[in-house]
Amino acid sequence: MPAQNTPTSFGLVTRTFHWLTALLILTAIPLGLIANGIETGPETIARKAQLFSLHKTLGVAAFLLGLTRILWALTQARPVPLHPQRRAEMTLAELVHWMLYLSLVMVPLTGWVHHAAVEGFAPILWPFGQGLPFVPKSEPLAALSGGAHWVFTKLLALSVILHIAGALKHHLIDRDATLARMAFGTAAPETPLPHRQRLAPLGLALLLYGAGTGLALSMAPQTAPATAPATTAAPTVAGGNWQVETGNLGFTVVQMGAPVTGSFASWTADITYDEAVTSGKAGQVVVEIDLASLALGSVSDQAKGPEFLDVAAHPVARFTADLLAGPEGLVAEGKLALHGAEKPVRLPFTLTIEGDLARMTGTARLDRRDFTIGAGYGDEETVGFAVDVAVSLDATRK
Ligand code: HEM
Ligand code: HEM
Repeated sequence: MPAQNTPTSFGLVTRTFHWLTALLILTAIPLGLIANGIETGPETIARKAQLFSLHKTLGVAAFLLGLTRILWALTQARPVPLHPQRRAEMTLAELVHWMLYLSLVMVPLTGWVHHAAVEGFAPILWPFGQGLPFVPKSEPLAALSGGAHWVFTKLLALSVILHIAGALKHHLIDRDATLARMAFGTAAPETPLPHRQRLAPLGLALLLYGAGTGLALSMAPQTAPATAPATTAAPTVAGGNWQVETGNLGFTVVQMGAPVTGSFASWTADITYDEAVTSGKAGQVVVEIDLASLALGSVSDQAKGPEFLDVAAHPVARFTADLLAGPEGLVAEGKLALHGAEKPVRLPFTLTIEGDLARMTGTARLDRRDFTIGAGYGDEETVGFAVDVAVSLDATRK
């Protein structure tokens, strides 16, 4: 049994590639549909994420296998068509084959770009990282690639249906060797016409993919996302002797085993600080955070919803603290009122002051259970307990 294609048969390698890809694609499609259809809630989220993780992992495997398969196909002879005189049928078959080849690249690639551009949710089950080179975390990019993934999966599904229908038609109605050739490597009888590569079916496939891309572009939101990117968040300030100019207030939480970072676009800090004090209370701070301004990638709405922050009932979080200087450095020590609870919080920070410009960065670890956030998620399987808060800001002396 030859490993390579011959003028009349598909070799073992081509057939192995074909059926492995078919298996992966025909599993990834229902997994994507089922996972997407599961409502998000405490009882279902773990299952939804597991199915999505499986979907993405099989999808990435299909992508890598598909690329190898395409490279292999480039080195191989295409076996002769069985019915070279049936021009329309051949054109349709070739169009569908090109659609399938294009889909093998574009469907998983758009899924992967979407995954890499968005924060959080179900990880790919492998140790090689979750991002993609040159793909930044970006909501517009995530929306565009998600839309393209959706459109392209429809083109793929249509092509697969036509492809399988064609194979069955050959097998059951024409009773020819088309299916046996791909299934068992059976050699077809020689036909007088060798296989000639025609460009029209490829052109048509590219046109259809172009139309799909146009549709995805028209579906993508035209306006910028409501929340500003974290780095440009410029909190205004109500009082104190320091004016915050720019800042970033965010946190990282482990979700499904992978860290997810979010940030608040709208918050204010009222800072009084006297750098001459080197021991004891050197000032105080009141930080007010508009919780509705949270951006947390694909799970922003869920984080703000009733299961977690419940911003409708508790729109603001308030951190009221003394700024204490001591031999171990500076610390903001006070109380955080969040989600209807008030708990002590210590936030060590570093500060550099040059003239009238102050730069501070600080971190604190909270436990979401102290604030009964995500009470329905009693273990760490879906969302970790620890929430690492990070704040950095530039302030000028008033
Ligand atoms: C149960 C499902 C499937 C069946 C029964 C099937 C059957 C076949 C058969 C009989 C051929 C040979 C056609 C010929 O001789 O001209 C073929 C070729 C091909 N199949 Fe499938 N297939 C299936 C699923 C898939 C899937 C999911 C893909 C997705 C990418 C796919 C991609 C291709 C491609 C690209 C070719 C052309 C190979 C070439 O000539 O380069 N097939 N398939
Ligand atoms: C050949 C491989 C793949 C196939 C056949 C496929 C197919 C699908 C299908 C059918 C859906 C459901 C669309 C709907 O609801 O109508 C879907 C959704 C999704 N897929 Fe894939 N997919 C593949 C690869 C990937 C990869 C590699 C990733 C990420 C690494 C991925 C991420 C996603 C995501 C995140 C969704 C949900 C999109 C949303 O909520 O907007 N997929 N996929």
